[in-house]
Order: sequence, then C-alpha cells, then structure tokens
Amino acid sequence: MPALGLGTWKSAKGEVGQAVKEAVRAGYRHIDCAYIYLNEAEIGGALRDLMDEGTVKREDLWITSKLWNNRHARGQVEGALRQTLADLGLDYLDLYLIHWPVALREDVLYPEKGDDFVALEDLPLHETWKGMEDAASLGLARHIGVSNFSVKKLDNLIQSARTAPEMNQVECHPFFPQHDLFAFCRKHGIHLTAYSPLGSQDRSAAIKRPGEPSLLQNPVIGEIARNLGCTPAQVLLQWAMRRGMAVIPKSVNPGRIRENLAATEVGLSDADMEKISDLDRGFRYLDGSIWALPGSPYTLQGLWDE
Ligand code: A2P
Repeated sequence: MPALGLGTWKSAKGEVGQAVKEAVRAGYRHIDCAYIYLNEAEIGGALRDLMDEGTVKREDLWITSKLWNNRHARGQVEGALRQTLADLGLDYLDLYLIHWPVALREDVLYPEKGDDFVALEDLPLHETWKGMEDAASLGLARHIGVSNFSVKKLDNLIQSARTAPEMNQVECHPFFPQHDLFAFCRKHGIHLTAYSPLGSQDRSAAIKRPGEPSLLQNPVIGEIARNLGCTPAQVLLQWAMRRGMAVIPKSVNPGRIRENLAATEVGLSDADMEKISDLDRGFRYLDGSIWALPGSPYTLQGLWDE
C-alpha cells in the first residue's frame, strides 16, 4: 500500500472527480474512500476515465473504502460492499474497513436521537467482522481492517477473529500522536493510517469547537518547514510517514494535491522529529461526540476506551 494516499472525506460532488484525476496524473496511486462520503460514484467515473486514457491500470491502484454504521449485521456487509464496488466501478477493493465501532439502525445514516442507535451488546463488532471476513473470502476485498478502534477493541477482536484486522485507520497528527495504539498495532502486525493529518479545517461548523489549535499554523511546524524549504503541510505528512504510518491528506486543489505528494521527498532529521513530539497535547479534532448524543447507548469513554 502506498504510504501517501488522497483523502476524499469532505471533497464535494462536482470537485472530487477532478481531484482524483489530478492526483492520479500527478502520481498518487492510493485513494481513500468511504460510502458515507457520498461521493463514490463520481470517484468511480474519474477512475474509469483514468483507466480509459491509459494513465493507470486497476492493479496499479490501491483503493480503500469503508462500511457504514448502518450495515453492521453480518448479512449486510456483502451488500454494502457490492454497492460501493458498483459506485466505484470496480470488481474488488484493495482494503475495506469497518468505519466506526458504532452501529446504527438500517434506515439511519446519521443519528438524531437515542433510538437511531443499535448498542454493541445487541450487534457486537465480532459479528460485523465475520461479515468482513466473508467479503474477503469472496474476493470482494483483498484486505480488511477497521477504523477508529481503540487498543481494547482491537484486542477483543483479535481474540475472537479468524483473521486479524490488517489496518486501523485513526486520527493521528502531532497534537494526537497515538503512541500507545501505534505500539500495540506494531506488536500485532496491524498497519496504521493517519487521518486528519492536517487538522481537517474544512469540517462543517457542527463538528468544530471554538478555539481549536491549528497544526498548519503551529510555530514549531512552521520553523521546521522554513529551515527545510518546504511547507508546514509537508512537514506534517512526512512526520507520519517517518513513523511508519500511511497518511491520507484531503485536497481538491491541484497545487496542494501536488504539494502533499511531494512530502514523500522531505527529509526530517531526528532533532526535527524530537521537536515535533513535544507538541503532543492529547487533542482530537474528531472527538466522536456525534455518537454520544443524549439517549445514545454510546459514551465517549466507551467509544475510545479512555
Ligand atoms: P483544500 O481541499 O482546499 O486543499 P485533512 O486532510 O486533515 O482533512 O485536511 C484537509 C484540509 O486541509 C482541507 O481544508 C484542505 O483544503 C486543506 N489542505 C490540504 N492540503 C493542504 C496544504 N498542502 N496546505 C494547506 N492546506 C491544505
């Protein structure tokens, strides 16, 4: 799996297809998608154009997508994955992930009240995982994994699973470096992909809090970038890759799409890595509070096991 991929969360319809084309023509070979981004059909159109024009073949690409929370029953996984494949115009995914350790009723995309949820006691993650294993054995996904899983949830899953997850995709950046989770994943041969590596400043106001710290404007990141003659975004992306993680910055801007890919060539020194490690402040941009609304069977403590 190429370490640097194009993120597509928040990439609007009408923009995402062009962004994928720009990215693949510039050299990206890894695209991170999800059903709930509601833009997979447009991405599929772009992939088809790229293959038709001969820029890439299917086997050159690494395409990830994710199972949404309202299809967690074992028998629903295959249908959800087939829908994503139809939208993307593909006959297999390289990687399919359980998007969140949270289950919703089938007719709910985003919860508004307690009744919209299904508790994990009623629909356990190991049941969803069996559906993921079924999909892998059908050849619909070459690799399977999870997203937003804590050490405890990964550990529980490993105990009961026929095959262990190969990936955990989580929020990770210098303000939230995920030391313990990363160490656990390494020990168990699970790869880690860092999402929101630039702080996802284009989130909707509903999931932003006042006074959030800025990664891109952080003075330490800025100083390292100036010394290296690169940009703050490139420092943030190279920091994740130097640690051995994959990283999926989102952009729909042609210049920034290229800038982010060029982060693979930035050389951070051990001293730079050390300075960046001092920025840890235990801060999540995506704290998961959407899953812990009043009446929900989920709590933030139970979600993150912290
Ligand atoms: P845009 O899509 O206009 O480029 P994340 O990957 O953490 O979710 O962050 C995505 C946000 O960061 C988007 O607002 C995106 O805007 C912006 N962005 C992406 N690449 C860069 C960059 N190289 N420099 C500054 N902002 C960037």
